Amino acid sequence: MSAVKELLANIKELKPFSQVASQILTVSEDPDRSMNDIAEIIVYDPSITSTLIKRCNSAYYSLPRQVESVQEAITYIGLDEVVSLVLIDQCSGNFVKKQDGYGLYEGELWKHSVFSAIVAKKLAKIKKAENINLIFTAAMIKDIGKIILDRFVSDRYKKINYLINEKKYSFMEAEKKIIGVNHAELGALIAKMWNFSSKMIFIIGNHHMSDEKAKTDLDTAIVYMGDIICNTMGIGCGVDGMSCRFHNDVMEFLDITPDDFQIVIAESYQEMEKVEALIKAV
Ligand SMILES: [Fe+2]
Repeated sequence: MSAVKELLANIKELKPFSQVASQILTVSEDPDRSMNDIAEIIVYDPSITSTLIKRCNSAYYSLPRQVESVQEAITYIGLDEVVSLVLIDQCSGNFVKKQDGYGLYEGELWKHSVFSAIVAKKLAKIKKAENINLIFTAAMIKDIGKIILDRFVSDRYKKINYLINEKKYSFMEAEKKIIGVNHAELGALIAKMWNFSSKMIFIIGNHHMSDEKAKTDLDTAIVYMGDIICNTMGIGCGVDGMSCRFHNDVMEFLDITPDDFQIVIAESYQEMEKVEALIKAV
């Protein structure tokens, strides 16, 4: 069996994408639906409701009174924060395990995914992007291809390393050369199998800017920048984080001021601490 065929056969080992997250994205992408429609989806899921209420009543928020319903949770912490927490929970399942091929300990890929999603969301707000939940989710799951590719990278690490160190390949170019597919292409294939929108498939497949068109696509450029900031800060960047291509033209296209960068990074750190505290609380 060729490596690519074997990889595709392994896709079914992934936990399927959450139905609730999928519904949230469908509503988010429909201009005729509102945030209240997203709240409706959350209200009718008992497991999400109970987790949400427990988190609101945790020491982290120290609210003045017990929260007893989703509506109260939304009143106290805001719908935007509720949706982000639900999407993080719903998208986390595949990302917690260690990834030996990419040099990531248990939990590191999850941390990278969540932090880059938080950064991407903040950049999306600054750039007034239309679909913030799509950008947030794309940033969270963009490296799904790594989960499947990990063992193949691990088995061929010497060859990949040779191309990076001696031939100046990026990590992703080396993945493609040695295995026949890179983690972004594989991620796009998984996204297709999970029936994601064409926009989501494009963002995942181009989160390292493989296609020139991605460089001037606002949503994809934001997800790319979230990843770059996360790597620059050394958050779950693994062995490939420092062997990525940096695209200055994307930086110019996004035109984020140095002040905004500083604010985004500082606020994202705070938000990451909050997410970790809340996840530990339940
Ligand atoms: Fe990636």
